[in-house]
Parts: sequence; C-alpha cells; structure tokens
Amino acid sequence: MSDSTEQPILRVKNLQKSYGHNPVLKGVDFEIQRGQVKAVLGPSGSGKSTMLRLMALLETADDGEIYLESKRIGVAERKGHFVPLSERAMAHQRADIGMVFQKFNLFPHLNALHNVMVGMTTVRKTHKKEAEKTAHEMLARVGLANRAHAFPSELSGGQQQRVAIARALVMNPKVLLFDEPTSALDPELVGEVLEVMESLAREGMTMVVVTHEVKFAQRVASEVLMFDGGYIIEQSAPEQFFGNPQHERTRKFLSHVH
Ligand SMILES: Nc1ncnc2c1ncn2[C@@H]1O[C@H](COP(=O)(O)OP(=O)(O)OP(=O)(O)O)[C@@H](O)[C@H]1O
Ligand SMILES: [Mg+2]
Repeated sequence: MSDSTEQPILRVKNLQKSYGHNPVLKGVDFEIQRGQVKAVLGPSGSGKSTMLRLMALLETADDGEIYLESKRIGVAERKGHFVPLSERAMAHQRADIGMVFQKFNLFPHLNALHNVMVGMTTVRKTHKKEAEKTAHEMLARVGLANRAHAFPSELSGGQQQRVAIARALVMNPKVLLFDEPTSALDPELVGEVLEVMESLAREGMTMVVVTHEVKFAQRVASEVLMFDGGYIIEQSAPEQFFGNPQHERTRKFLSHVH
C-alpha cells in the first residue's frame, strides 16, 4: 500500500523534449508512489511514449530532472555540474526501470528462455545457471512454463508480450513502464496480457501504463492521467477521471475511446 507521506519512488520534474523544432514535452511533472499504478491516456502524438522513453533512460531530455527513490538519475554530478552518465553507468540505472513495448521488441534469434535471461547475464552479471532458474520461474509466472524453448516467431502476440513482461520482471525493476502493451494484439489475446498485468499490480508492482484499455484503467489504476499537447492536463482517481472529468479536452477524448 502506498503512503502519502512517503517519498515518490519515481519523480519527474519539468521534463522537456523537442525533436527538431517540434516541442513534444513542454514541462511534465509526474510522480508515482511505491505500489501505485498510473494509467496514462491521451491522443496520438501528445508525447506519452516520449515521456516513458525519457523515464526509462532510453533517450535524454533537453531539460528537467528524473529521480528514482530520491536519487537523480541519467546524469552524474561532477564539481557541482550535472554531466551525462557513462554508457556503463547508464545501463545499470536503466536496469532498475523496466519497459514493455507495444511491439514486444524480443530478440528474434533467441528463444523465450534466452530472451528472458539476457539482461540478467549481461547487465546484472548473474551466473548462467542462476539466471536460467530465475527465467524459468518467471516464464511460469506469466503462464509460459511450457514455451521456454520457443522462438518469438513460434509464439502468438500475447505469448510474446508475456515473454517481454517476464524479461522485464527478472531484472527486479523498481518501476515497470508499459507503452500500449496490448495495442498490437488481436482482440482475443488482449485479456491474457491484461490479466498478468493486473496480477502484478495486486502484488504491489509500481506501474505506469500508457493504454487505451479504459476498463483496465478503471479497475486497476490508482490514478489516471490525461496527456495533451506535451503536458499532463488532468490527473485523478479513476472514478473521478471517468465519471466527472474536469477538463473539456478529457471529456472529448473519453467520448471517443469509450
Ligand atoms: N525519434 C523521434 N524523432 C522525431 N520526432 C519524434 C520522435 N519520436 C517522437 N516524435 C514526435 O513526437 C511527438 C510525440 O510522439 P510520441 O510517440 O511521444 O506520442 P504518443 O503520445 O506516444 O502517440 P501515440 O499514441 O501515437 O503512440 C510526435 O509528433 C512524434 O512525431
Ligand atoms: Mg506512443
């Protein structure tokens, strides 16, 4: 359970990012407490994926700060100045923040087991035998105990996405970010992925989920937030967000996705 007196596990302050002359994030402030689930909604192109990529340290912001457990990440302090981290240090910090992508992003030449193991053996330097054991356990956890030796091309989209979730989980992330994890799936495969995500939420995983699955957001999210034009324009508990949205833009958006 989260406690409002606690420090947020992840906090973002005044995050800004442009691509060329296109300002995408114009000053995003965001925080999440341990064990919370935040659902992120918003129109295409509003900057949702960009925010997740920056929080996952897959890209660098033009301005703003990211804190994980109150420690600033993505930069190192040197003589009072913040400088970019070395790639090695960055990889270590990145490992604390899991990311699950719309298109799974599995390695096609590795089977499910090796896809799940690879982060442990390369970044965490876990011994191969131990990594293998953990990977088997995590595949069982997402309902794929009997598919460990299948290659991505031999798995359904829903199975591939569950492998991707297992791959993120074995790194023991402090926060798990999901970017439209079910949008690339056939409708009949959406449920199996949402089920895994819901059980993670119940077990206390801290999650930020960009999604169009309104029912999932209603049932699972602690808070829902609306992204528009490079800002978070509204944020509230699901009952309030869906039942009585304050912002005209949110109302209009919800009338399209409902
Ligand atoms: N690597 C990039 N280079 C140039 N422009 C980019 C890049 N990534 C994103 N953009 C632009 O930034 C804006 C926001 O993109 P982003 O992917 O964050 O939106 P989104 O809210 O996730 O949209 P969607 O719902 O379609 O996934 C868009 O205008 C997009 O074209
Ligand atoms: Mg996106």
